[in-house]
Amino acid sequence: MTSTQAQGRFVSIDASIFDHRLCLDPYPLLEPLYQDPSILGFHSEGMNFCIRYEDCRALIAAHQSVAREPLVTEENTAREAEYARKYPHRAWHFQHGLCDLGTKALFNRFLLEHLDAIDWSGMAPAFERLGRPGRHDDFLDDIELLPLKLMLEAWGFEADDERVRGLHRAGVALNKSFDNFQNETLIAEGDRGLAYSDQYFFDQYHAPAAGTLLADFATQVRQQGLDPAHAVSILVAFGNGLTNTLSISTAFALRNILRYPAAVQCLRDRPELLQRESVILEFLRRDNHVKSLSRQVHAPFTLRGLPLEPGDALSIFYPGVNLDPTHWDRPTELDFSRAFNRDNHAIFGGSRYACIGSRLAMRYFRSILASMLRDLPSGARLIEEDIETDSSWLTERIITRLPFDVP
Ligand code: HEM
Repeated sequence: MTSTQAQGRFVSIDASIFDHRLCLDPYPLLEPLYQDPSILGFHSEGMNFCIRYEDCRALIAAHQSVAREPLVTEENTAREAEYARKYPHRAWHFQHGLCDLGTKALFNRFLLEHLDAIDWSGMAPAFERLGRPGRHDDFLDDIELLPLKLMLEAWGFEADDERVRGLHRAGVALNKSFDNFQNETLIAEGDRGLAYSDQYFFDQYHAPAAGTLLADFATQVRQQGLDPAHAVSILVAFGNGLTNTLSISTAFALRNILRYPAAVQCLRDRPELLQRESVILEFLRRDNHVKSLSRQVHAPFTLRGLPLEPGDALSIFYPGVNLDPTHWDRPTELDFSRAFNRDNHAIFGGSRYACIGSRLAMRYFRSILASMLRDLPSGARLIEEDIETDSSWLTERIITRLPFDVP
């Protein structure tokens, strides 16, 4: 940025962050903003949302100055203490075990084993019906719980239908409450959800069935002298991360298949192309469930010429970052010739807050994209005008209905 350019700023757009256009199709609303290099992003509902790839990378790199955790000041400490009293489970949010890098590293090793233990064929029944002629309205009902169930089973958790449903409800409530700090109802429901999954993972972790991955994980935590509370926290985060992520991103992937029949034809003709990481990443770049993640300023930092001071807050609007036309050519196209490497995308965030589920997500999408492309006839037509969303929350966003017609 040169000294002649204006200080970075956020501008209003013709939509609230809760508008479903920002969930389903943000690009037309954001496109004019990218043309002016002084614009960092948009302002909505009292919050600022960064939309540029370069700024997202700068924020990720500056995680010691701009963090997800709130700034600890005398005033904040008092507020936090009061908050923790009012919402006892929410205190976890401020000091959760995900920040313990030793436990995170051990967990990541176990995740690799977990990938091999998953029965991917368990997803097949949900996709076989995609070929039936007529209008499909309830496809998402089938995949809402299935990925969660399969992944829990592979760890050796008890995952009967009632528990899976309970965990799913709990995870959705918690995700809804993230970053919606002003909405007391969502916070209270989120806390109830967190209490439910805390209890489930605590009980399972402390009495794992013999011979399971979970039992091995608990043994390793003990042998390495790690804190079991951190291990439970990471399992809670993992379980919670499974509730919306995979099923909702599946809805976005299916929408891409329906919207871009010409682009996906090459994958129908040559399914082996799905072995390429870049193909899966392109689906996730074009659309996924992650929308907005907040950051709190802890130390002075300058972003695109805008000085930020401790106490300031902003958010990363990931769909804006993934569609930034100053970084991606023809950003709205599904283009499988894009070359991704670890330094040219932020689809899974990065650094301190890097996604713990990225490997799992990659393997999952490789498997289900193959099923969808095999089972969904190429003449299927998306009924765009009848898509429904649940848009009242920030972090992730849900497509609740994705209707399409099969000839
Ligand atoms: C569809 C694929 C997925 C995408 C595109 C995705 C994307 C992301 C992104 C962008 C972040 C960084 C958030 C930030 O900047 O604050 C993140 C963090 C995270 N993701 Fe994912 N994710 C996916 C799947 C999953 C899955 C399957 C899980 C769990 C099993 C998961 C669990 C998490 C957790 C727990 C964090 C927070 C990490 C931390 O704060 O240390 N994600 N993800």
